[in-house]
Amino acid sequence: MLDSTRITHTPAFVLEYDAFEKNLALIGGLQQSLGSTFLFALKGFGMHRVFGEISACAKGATASSLNEARLASEYFSHVHAYAPVYQPDEFDAISQLSSHITFNSLGQYELYKNRLGRAKAGLRVNPKLDMVATELYDPCAPGSRLGIQPDALTMLPEGITGLHVHNLCESGAKEMQATLANVEKLYGRFFGNITWLNLGGGHLVTRKGYDLALFSATVQSFRQKYPHIELMFEPGAAYVWQTGVLVSEVLDIVTSDGIDTLMMDTSFTAHMPDCLEMPYTPSVRGAVVCKDGESGVRLGGSSCLAGDWVGEYRFATMPKIGDRLVFEDMMHYTMVKTTMFNGLAHPDIGIWRDGCYEVVKQFSYEDYKNRLS
Ligand SMILES: Cc1ncc(COP(=O)(O)O)c(C=O)c1O
Repeated sequence: MLDSTRITHTPAFVLEYDAFEKNLALIGGLQQSLGSTFLFALKGFGMHRVFGEISACAKGATASSLNEARLASEYFSHVHAYAPVYQPDEFDAISQLSSHITFNSLGQYELYKNRLGRAKAGLRVNPKLDMVATELYDPCAPGSRLGIQPDALTMLPEGITGLHVHNLCESGAKEMQATLANVEKLYGRFFGNITWLNLGGGHLVTRKGYDLALFSATVQSFRQKYPHIELMFEPGAAYVWQTGVLVSEVLDIVTSDGIDTLMMDTSFTAHMPDCLEMPYTPSVRGAVVCKDGESGVRLGGSSCLAGDWVGEYRFATMPKIGDRLVFEDMMHYTMVKTTMFNGLAHPDIGIWRDGCYEVVKQFSYEDYKNRLS
């Protein structure tokens, strides 16, 4: 168990290595037993100090830009590219690095089909199955720009070898099963002509209680029916689900209109933006989130954004200035989405392993200054 008092400097994102290894073992085992492909989506987690370990488990990585494709190619033997729209000045470099390239529209495929090099081409199709309650993360919301609609795909253009769908987010095996069934219903007429089907991300196979038996049975029955199609999954969050924290210190306590706010050395908008965007109230070790109607203390971020706070929480003992708070499950979609808004120093990045803490990265004034000009 991580000892927050031994984190040398806060705020700090800290990977808990034991938990990370367990996730990799589960995903690696699943891949081996099912004979399907697990890719790693870089967009969810970019701490490349541990990409070596991920690449020993995943068969490749997925990239959404040239920067991600370059980074992925340094660690992974196969890069699969997908972007909602490719930047004209990036495409050729992406195609040189990629084994598979997926296009979000027929127009994008037309534009680039003669510049694929050795990469296999695929189309992202929309499975028309709403599985995500938060619209911000729902690729099947009405009017979605993500994926070709079934009525727009009357035939598979020459050169297309695979299809790609992505409609899940922190989802279970039942949602995967329903997605595959809908993809077969809407696009099964093309299955005779494809050799790979990528079911995207959002498969939270490492969450406690995930129905791995249903997941495996669904994959196996698909493979029996369509043995010529390689089934692929490209989760990001699942690799680092519940594998690390953000350790922060209370710097001040402000009371206003009877509400106490613990002023932290971290910021929700800059370091944990999903807390405000989604929004959700993060778990904090040793605290409970108040139910509707109960009042507790707020946790305040260090930026000057008025809404940079979350809450409310109840603690067994009210924290004091100098105490440390540990925000749970802060590896996926945190570090990759941070900003240096207000010039706030980026949290350190470290690893907790076998009872020891190692700082992997600290940020300097130059990191801040060099970003914008
Ligand atoms: C196309 C695509 N693939 C994979 C992922 C990874 O999803 P997750 O990290 O939820 O598993 C995403 C996330 O947005 C995505 O858009």
